[in-house]
Amino acid sequence: MTHPTRTSASLDQALAAAVERYRQRNPASAEQFEQATEVLPGGNTRSVLFQAPFPPVMVRGQGCWLWDADGHKLLDALGEFTAGLYGHSAAPIRAAIVAALDGGISLSSHTFREVELARELVRRFPSMQLLRFTNSGTEANLLALATAVAHTGRRKVLVFEGAYHGGVLSFGGATGSVNVPHEWLRAPYNDLAAAAAHVEHDGEQIAAILVEPMLGSGGCIPGTPTFLQGLRRLADECGALLVFDEVMTSRLALGGRQSQLGLVPDLTTLGKYFGGGLSFGAFGGRRELMQRFDPRRADALGHAGTFNNNVLSMAAGLAGLRELWTPAAVDALNRRGERLRERCNALFRDRGLALQCTGLGSLMTLHATDCPLRCYADLADTDPRIKDLIYFGLLERGVFMARRGFVALSLPFGDAELELFVATLDEVLRAYAEVLPATARSMSM
Ligand SMILES: Cc1ncc(COP(=O)(O)O)c(C=O)c1O
Repeated sequence: MTHPTRTSASLDQALAAAVERYRQRNPASAEQFEQATEVLPGGNTRSVLFQAPFPPVMVRGQGCWLWDADGHKLLDALGEFTAGLYGHSAAPIRAAIVAALDGGISLSSHTFREVELARELVRRFPSMQLLRFTNSGTEANLLALATAVAHTGRRKVLVFEGAYHGGVLSFGGATGSVNVPHEWLRAPYNDLAAAAAHVEHDGEQIAAILVEPMLGSGGCIPGTPTFLQGLRRLADECGALLVFDEVMTSRLALGGRQSQLGLVPDLTTLGKYFGGGLSFGAFGGRRELMQRFDPRRADALGHAGTFNNNVLSMAAGLAGLRELWTPAAVDALNRRGERLRERCNALFRDRGLALQCTGLGSLMTLHATDCPLRCYADLADTDPRIKDLIYFGLLERGVFMARRGFVALSLPFGDAELELFVATLDEVLRAYAEVLPATARSMSM
């Protein structure tokens, strides 16, 4: 059930006024956008960052703060869509990058660092007995699927509605038009019966079941343990590989969400912060599967990539894991995230608003509905204008999150920043109380 906003016309008016204030307050970003359109289509080289009328241009970051081209200081609650876990230029990462630069960055061969980083990851993710590095999470997923196809000799891949596994592996909204041509089977997220029906029908042709342990871009909707464990059973039944895309969820525990669930996927993909904030991806899994990439074998699978072992990502990634991403840091970040989500949801409840914040640990998304969310289709009727209004309201008051309502906390985001976020959200909710959607209960009062 969705709830009507109190007055749709006044919502339009409030949003138009907020956008107009954004225009007025950001002339330098507007000007930069115009320049960008001369050389980049729509001024853009990364689709998720586009927003009408123009995106804010950032010029500097420090800790969990950003400065935009118009001189506003903004609390960074987006954390580069999770890649910015360590905040902006954390000292150990900066030092590691400088040291790597001093040693030369294009060494044209194997280096020590890639082995050290691989060891750190294998130690944390026992299901990854062997792994290989890539430049992005997208590439990691492409290679994981290629491994599954080569291993099974099958062509179909079971994925879930609303999932995002990369720029060419996207299963929500309209963004899938450039997807790679695997033979996709799609099921609703958290619907084990639908997945089982695909396995029943096509099981002998399914190479892989590819799943995010929590829909990330699709709205921070956690996969239930029953669903995720059920996929493990289904993959075993039909001889497909279970691929866990932990590009986002790896931050929920030292060994990712798989360690929390006690679940062992065949292959795992990683990305984002494991490169210390620089380009990064990795895929890995059971030794017997990954050994196909051993170049000493006559039947070896190829896996090329000039920057797979690039010195800066390896150095920054290592520094992050060794010096910053400690068990205590993981726990503290998770707890802060849980607290922030609880505080936001308490605000919505107290004000009788049909809004909610979903997610796990330090990853969350604000939604314009108070209905339970289990799959992507549950979001179909939500009004995007609500999130827009909250986004512009927060931005105007100095808090930056994704326009789609996504928040990913970074390590420097502390208690003071949490309080600031909540107080600013509270201010936005008060300012727009008349146009935000009310719960059914408060509508009937
Ligand atoms: C779950 C998930 N998988 C894969 C990717 C793709 O990673 P990249 O942007 O590094 O290609 C993302 C990026 O947001 C992601 O969230």
